[in-house]
Amino acid sequence: MSDIHNPDAHISAGHPKSSPDQIRAGHPKSGPANGDVIIDCNLHELYYGQFKAVRDTHIPIRKNKITAFIGPSGCGKSTVLRCLNRMNDLVRGFRFDGHVHFQGRNIYDRSIDPVAVRRHIGMVFQQPNPFNMSIYNNVAFGLRLNGYKGSIAERVEQALRRAALWDEVKDKLKQNGLSLSGGQQQRLCIARAVATEPKVLLMDEPCSALDPIATRRIEELMTELKQRFTIAIVTHNLQQAQRVADETGFLYVDTTQGGRTGYLVEYGSSQQIFQDPREEPTKQYIRGEFS
Ligand SMILES: Nc1ncnc2c1ncn2[C@@H]1O[C@H](COP(=O)(O)OP(=O)(O)OP(=O)(O)O)[C@@H](O)[C@H]1O
Ligand SMILES: [Mg+2]
Repeated sequence: MSDIHNPDAHISAGHPKSSPDQIRAGHPKSGPANGDVIIDCNLHELYYGQFKAVRDTHIPIRKNKITAFIGPSGCGKSTVLRCLNRMNDLVRGFRFDGHVHFQGRNIYDRSIDPVAVRRHIGMVFQQPNPFNMSIYNNVAFGLRLNGYKGSIAERVEQALRRAALWDEVKDKLKQNGLSLSGGQQQRLCIARAVATEPKVLLMDEPCSALDPIATRRIEELMTELKQRFTIAIVTHNLQQAQRVADETGFLYVDTTQGGRTGYLVEYGSSQQIFQDPREEPTKQYIRGEFS
């Protein structure tokens, strides 16, 4: 295997790390910036220790679009999503052969600071996870951490408005974030993520812990947010992918070699994937023949 990426080695190498501006500016080693593709993810082989978890997965994430990853449990959806902002770096034994370009630059380049990557590419998790602090401080947290120089109060309000939560919490900003309902907590986490103005939001099953009404609220919110941000979402809910996603990638598990390796079967517009899938496994999955 050539050009294996091993984040542990890179982190311990002690190279001067680039600032977010340098990431934005691109770099001579960058891959080609491809039109409206903001993240170009190309994973040839991805391992956790000896286990090959994912192979042959090339997904372009387009600017101001919502891209959904669908597929059965264990096919590598979360793994691929976490590669997009280097969240897997924290997993011992994680390595891959391939690249992830953000705005034309390989985010796994040894000169790139993973913390700067996550400032541009934020994440919302399956379980709402507000910090044990006030609603206001939940949203202000990242701004303070980044040394934001402007008015924090204004940015907190703006982020809560963008997350469609302001009207519900404006009179109780000092109340603990954990006191909110599940759906409100998830919108608070979205407010926290958008407060620092990332370019991309990654969402791993953001509605799976929510009731149908809260789910629809988050879906509407995603559609509004894509005017400003780019969104990549993992979902088990095929109706949700059809409702919100512009593009969809279907991953499946290859068991032919005795392993359980996920791979991208098919990627395209959501309309094509759901109404005219080309590959047999996609057709079966969409017909609900396995989950
Ligand atoms: N931290 C880890 N260490 C070792 N193996 C892992 C780790 N995370 C995931 N895996 C393995 O990689 C494969 C893909 O897992 P992943 O969580 O990406 O799948 P998924 O498609 O998100 O599944 P689900 O729909 O159940 O969330 C699985 O076989 C899983 O056991
Ligand atoms: Mg998952």
